[in-house]
Amino acid sequence: MKNLALACLITAALAAACSDEEGTGSTGSGAGTGEGAGTTNNTAALPCDVAPIIESACLSCHGDPPSSAAPQALVSVEQWRAPSPSDPAKSNGQLSIERMLDATQPMPPAGLLDQAQLDIVSAWVEAGMPGGDCNANPVDDPLLNAAAICTSMDMWPANSDHATGKTREEMFPGMPCNDCHSNPTKYGFFESEGTFDIAGTVFPTGHEPDNCAGVDGTSLTDVIVRIEDAAGMTWDLHPNEAGNFFIENGVTPPYSARVISSAGVRAMSYKPTNGDCNLCHTQEGSDGGDPDSGVAPGRIVVPSAAP
Ligand code: HEC
Ligand code: HEC
Ligand code: HEC
Repeated sequence: MKNLALACLITAALAAACSDEEGTGSTGSGAGTGEGAGTTNNTAALPCDVAPIIESACLSCHGDPPSSAAPQALVSVEQWRAPSPSDPAKSNGQLSIERMLDATQPMPPAGLLDQAQLDIVSAWVEAGMPGGDCNANPVDDPLLNAAAICTSMDMWPANSDHATGKTREEMFPGMPCNDCHSNPTKYGFFESEGTFDIAGTVFPTGHEPDNCAGVDGTSLTDVIVRIEDAAGMTWDLHPNEAGNFFIENGVTPPYSARVISSAGVRAMSYKPTNGDCNLCHTQEGSDGGDPDSGVAPGRIVVPSAAP
């Protein structure tokens, strides 16, 4: 993401082309010829409003090379314009829009994106997928390559259930809430506490340490964690001052989870039954003892175009 922001800055200085262009294509760089504005891979780049959506919603599988059985890479403009593997009469872009609007076979598989994001990608595809100035490159994903830092520099005291000036709801950010509440002696406490159907912490980057306060949801009011359960119920949770969020009860597992902000969406494809998010979303990432889930990529991270 640092590279992405840098690419935007460099080109913006020369071409003022990094603003939200709503995918009209009129100010893009045309047919992928590139503007040569100092980025190494400009012919392959996407418009800056489209890139973060594709990066967070598609490239975990449709990277180059693709993974998780996805049939094609969707990183560059050329790849979006290429014939699709299953229906060569349609471009990957046209088939992508069909699948992104298809609730029974959605892309990403975890569920449809928000309407505002669908509108941006649809408008870009309809305009003929003009090139832009932002590389959508999962290698730049802060989730994968951020250093292990506590961005907030605000630590909950490791061995205490109280912290001056903070509420109980802000306790132990990044730690597995239910694991401690139900196995207190494992963590040096004595009385068990009630558990949550869902509980976890949203962070600004992917590898923040235990007890470090995550994003301050009271100032980043656009950030929500959306939970959809097996009974079709939806919850939109706002992280608190420490980035913590929870639902006490009423969730029917398994559930899907995604984090939504004005900058994009990060969705989990797997549907866990265990609602103790931080059990898997540790500093390094874990499967939380669930052999089917795979290893989580690190913390639950807020979507952000320029961290
Ligand atoms: C979790 C992995 C994953 C994510 C994330 C994902 N896909 Fe896919 N995609 C797949 C798999 C697996 C297939 C093949 C099976 C199928 O068609 O459902 C596929 C198939 C497709 C196809 C059909 C290709 C063909 O020729 O049949 C398109 C188009 C597509 N994805 C677009 C997207 C777009 C666009 C996004 C993001 C908005 C996205 N996908 C996100 C895994 C993923
Ligand atoms: C290391 C152990 C531990 C972890 C991890 C932990 N808690 Fe707690 N929690 C406690 C203890 C001990 C108490 C009782 C403290 C008290 O009320 O004085 C408590 C109490 C609470 C309470 C107050 C309950 C009530 O009935 O008043 C809330 C809310 C809470 N925790 C939320 C969380 C959340 C959210 C997380 C995860 C982000 C979390 N806790 C993680 C040990 C833990
Ligand atoms: C049993 C382990 C497990 C639990 C519990 C779990 N996750 Fe995940 N999560 C994963 C794995 C594995 C991935 C990566 C593969 C995938 O998307 O399915 C992931 C991916 C994600 C992603 C996308 C990551 C990205 O930025 O690309 C988000 C967002 C997410 N999880 C949120 C949550 C939330 C919120 C909860 C709790 C409500 C939760 N997860 C609970 C294992 C888990």
